[in-house]
Amino acid sequence: MKLKNIIEEATLLLSSVIEDKAEVKSNIFFMLSYLLNKSISELKINLDLNISKEKEKTFENWLKRRLNFEPVQYITKETEFYGIPIKLDNKVLIPRKETETLVDEVLKEIKKSKTYKVLDLACGTGCIGIAILKNTVKTNLDFSDFYSAPIKITKENLKSLNLESRSKVIKSDMFKNIETKYDIIVSNPPYIKKSEFKILSLDIINFEPKNALIGGSDGLEFYKKIATNAFKYLKEKGKIFLEIGYNQESEVFKIFKNKNWKDINIIKDLSNNPRILIAKTPYSL
Ligand SMILES: C[S@@+](CC[C@H](N)C(=O)[O-])C[C@H]1O[C@@H](n2cnc3c(N)ncnc32)[C@H](O)[C@@H]1O
Repeated sequence: MKLKNIIEEATLLLSSVIEDKAEVKSNIFFMLSYLLNKSISELKINLDLNISKEKEKTFENWLKRRLNFEPVQYITKETEFYGIPIKLDNKVLIPRKETETLVDEVLKEIKKSKTYKVLDLACGTGCIGIAILKNTVKTNLDFSDFYSAPIKITKENLKSLNLESRSKVIKSDMFKNIETKYDIIVSNPPYIKKSEFKILSLDIINFEPKNALIGGSDGLEFYKKIATNAFKYLKEKGKIFLEIGYNQESEVFKIFKNKNWKDINIIKDLSNNPRILIAKTPYSL
């Protein structure tokens, strides 16, 4: 069958469960690009390409999974974050576009001539730390997570991207096994309220790991732990960079203010939502 016919059929099928036309189109091209090992722009100018029976069968199977609301990134087992290929499975959170703003902010802080020691706390796929490593030369990154699956995936990603020499992966319940002091701690912790989980989309509820998303009954549990403990793991002039929920700005600000963090600043993401909290350790001069 020709690529254009496959796209037509898939569009009809997916449109029966996904209303947003742009999402249908991007899901189809995302899957086809991994299936055929071609970029989306290459696919768009090769619509008469003949697709083998075998690839057609695989795509049919992928489409069935998507019709059942499985996210495309779990189907292809790979995604892109900050332009970097990131491997993943359904035991780790899918890296989100808004988290790229967190990386932007850390990279603005890092000066080329200086050496930095950074902790990516609650690392998931390792996407945040990996993007920092890829875009700096003198940075050393420690990655930590509580669960075995993210630890395994982060190690795999570091290996396939050839970044093992500047990194270490630590299994730790928050700061429990952290023994070093850092210049920067960066984290996108779980921050959804327990009661709000069930109103998220089916893609998330049925497929993404709950323990990567829920931040206790108020969604703030991890921020409280970080505000109370992170300064012990930061050097004198160290800084914290955190992703926050779009509606958590004032609550998270207060948590850090009450623990005497300095120069607290909230940065908006590309959709103009408050998204990143930056603060200096309470002991900074
Ligand atoms: C929102 S995900 C972020 C993953 C990744 N940093 C990203 O931005 O895609 C939160 C991560 O926190 C981890 N986590 C949950 N509880 C934890 C704990 N007590 N200590 C350390 N990590 C934890 C989860 O396994 C998950 O990988």
